[in-house]
Amino acid sequence: MSFYVNDDYLYCDGLKIKDIQEQVPHSPFYLYSLDQITANYTAYETALEGLESIIGYAIKANNNLAILRHLRKLGSGAVLVSGNELRIAMAAGFDPEQMLLNGNGKTHPELILAARHGVMINVDSEFDFEHIQQAARVAEKTVNVLIRINPDVDPQVHHYVSTGIKNSKFGIRNERLHWFLDRINDDSRLNLVGVHCHLGSTIKKTSIFRDATELMMEFIDEIRSQGFEVKYLNIGGGLGIDYERTGEAIPSPADLIDSIRDLLTSDVGLIIEPGRSIIGNTAAFVNRVVGVKTNGNKNFIVTDGSMAELIRPSLYDTYQHIDFIEPVDAEIEAYDVVGPVCESADFLGKDRSLSTPHEGAGLVVYDAGAYCYAMSSNYNLKMRPPEYLVDGENLVEIRRAENLEDYMRLFETTQ
Ligand code: LLP
Repeated sequence: MSFYVNDDYLYCDGLKIKDIQEQVPHSPFYLYSLDQITANYTAYETALEGLESIIGYAIKANNNLAILRHLRKLGSGAVLVSGNELRIAMAAGFDPEQMLLNGNGKTHPELILAARHGVMINVDSEFDFEHIQQAARVAEKTVNVLIRINPDVDPQVHHYVSTGIKNSKFGIRNERLHWFLDRINDDSRLNLVGVHCHLGSTIKKTSIFRDATELMMEFIDEIRSQGFEVKYLNIGGGLGIDYERTGEAIPSPADLIDSIRDLLTSDVGLIIEPGRSIIGNTAAFVNRVVGVKTNGNKNFIVTDGSMAELIRPSLYDTYQHIDFIEPVDAEIEAYDVVGPVCESADFLGKDRSLSTPHEGAGLVVYDAGAYCYAMSSNYNLKMRPPEYLVDGENLVEIRRAENLEDYMRLFETTQ
């Protein structure tokens, strides 16, 4: 584990986080472990040994350029959901042929960009199909496409992150499969390379992936019977992580791949699109306590970090573990950990048993690598925090703090 307690102080690899907090000029900030990123990626790579595969890191989870460059160096591909994600993936040096553009509302410019660079594109609907055809014509390229199928398997996760059930806004209507196949057949600029499904995020059971793989292999058989070569099965996003930090046994990438390996025929390559399980547990969001208060019924620890920098608890009512980075020996109480943003939805954690901290005490929200910075905002004109990376015993700033001048620049129009 990259984050561990030693003598009541929290460390990230070789560095004491309290020392970092005292050294850096900003609070709050995000802190990443390079070793943990490498370990998480390598776990997928090892799990996939012997299979033709692409690990398409889901950039939406965390798009820090330094992190992207590191994952690219490790051999990762990239899964994109916008033209800008494509551009940042190019800037990070990813191979466009190892990239896939997903989405239910891809725009013309995004599709043309993807077609020009030879990025694979997922077909999500009838209109999306027509837009991809147009993009291929404009770009004068042949486009490798996958069809996003909706396997209708319940991933047993929060309904906001469940995407593979019948009522989801993603994917084609399966009964229309032949409509898509006929049209792909008729268009020499489109080349069907695979089928895609994504059931949802935070999945913790391999049986769910297995159920989906069984169904998807049936679709592959059906498509092949129509004379298509199907090179890839894309099983979508990766595994959930142990946000509760209770030591719950969450399947490893090896468990996941081993659970479906026997279903895959030797002529099918696997694409997997992990985001959270690559980057989630590699970071902590480091705050300072502004003060402690009570309203008689409830006690609050008020921190300088808020829903503006980390919205997952407010948005999904999800749990991310919170603890101090230094010894805090005062009385233990039940606290809501809240930020300074002017609304009651602003909390990082509720009903946590924590010692009563002194002002300025350091406090972290764990597992803040995925969908945290990436979903941050300027609400209340809070500026986005800096990001630091621990590389062994070295601290590297991998994104500077945003400042008000950056923000004010947006009002300098040309008219
Ligand atoms: N592929 C597709 C098509 C996806 O929609 C997603 C995530 C992924 C891959 C990556 O899934 P992962 O390996 O990270 O589970 N903001 C939410 C998560 C939304 C995920 C959406 N799709 C959160 O903070 O929990």
